[in-house]
Amino acid sequence: MNYRHAFHAGSFADCVKHALLVWLLRALMRKETPLFVLDTHAGVGHYDLEYGPAARTGEWRQGIARLLDDTPAPLADYVGLVRSLGLYPGSPALIRALLRPADRLACCELHPDDFFELRRNFARDSQVGVHHRDAWEALRALLPPKERRGLILIDPPFENPQEFAQLLDGLAAGHARFPTGVFAAWYPIKHRAPIRAFHTQLQQSGMRDIVSIELCIREPDDPARLNGCGMVVINPPFRFELNAPEILAALLERLGRNERGAYTTVTRLGAE
Ligand SMILES: C[S@@+](CC[C@H](N)C(=O)[O-])C[C@H]1O[C@@H](n2cnc3c(N)ncnc32)[C@H](O)[C@@H]1O
Repeated sequence: MNYRHAFHAGSFADCVKHALLVWLLRALMRKETPLFVLDTHAGVGHYDLEYGPAARTGEWRQGIARLLDDTPAPLADYVGLVRSLGLYPGSPALIRALLRPADRLACCELHPDDFFELRRNFARDSQVGVHHRDAWEALRALLPPKERRGLILIDPPFENPQEFAQLLDGLAAGHARFPTGVFAAWYPIKHRAPIRAFHTQLQQSGMRDIVSIELCIREPDDPARLNGCGMVVINPPFRFELNAPEILAALLERLGRNERGAYTTVTRLGAE
């Protein structure tokens, strides 16, 4: 396990994932009944962008820094949370900030150092469980939740090409145990071939009600570069397909670099 999220915190890809995560949580919290959130690949929780790994790569300067400077209306909720939380919030900190008293968050992190830091960040928080556990195993072990309502965020590091296959298996296993859960899985876009194959396999998986969103800051034609990212959402909440385009458009307007082939899309992969 070489991937350390601290180097990439606040990057354009983090902004895409986190802006949509906040929208999904707000949508699910329109109902009063308690919600369970599973963050399968949690990282450490929050990140200091001015020092250490994030400062060394500076990826956040092309990401969240641009949104903090000038926040478009569709991103006001997400960026407002980032401002209010101080250190750049990773997915566990954003989710925790929105939990209501009866909601619950379970976070899994396999890297021993990151797990240790994550556990320290949520010590004595009775609404947050931190597990030193493999994400793919957790999708089987922790679902379905007793609340019977849940959001499952799957955010793998994509260190090797098999991770699309692993993601597909994990989604199928989690969905089989919890068919009404809302599953949101992030993926990198370097070039098109693996994405096409992933989408086709999702369409053939038997799972229904699947939407994919994508944002590329340039033509995805270089397998060695992160040109964009996407998220597949299974069982998306009401209005997701209506609201996602304006969030993506606002993100691209601020985070794009006027490079050839930049785009955003919202695509239905499986019928409701
Ligand atoms: C992309 S980062 C997560 C970032 C986090 N979701 C966020 O948005 O702030 C992926 C994390 O997954 C961890 N990880 C890698 N493989 C894992 C596995 N099989 N199970 C659980 N965690 C894993 C890595 O150590 C890393 O911290």
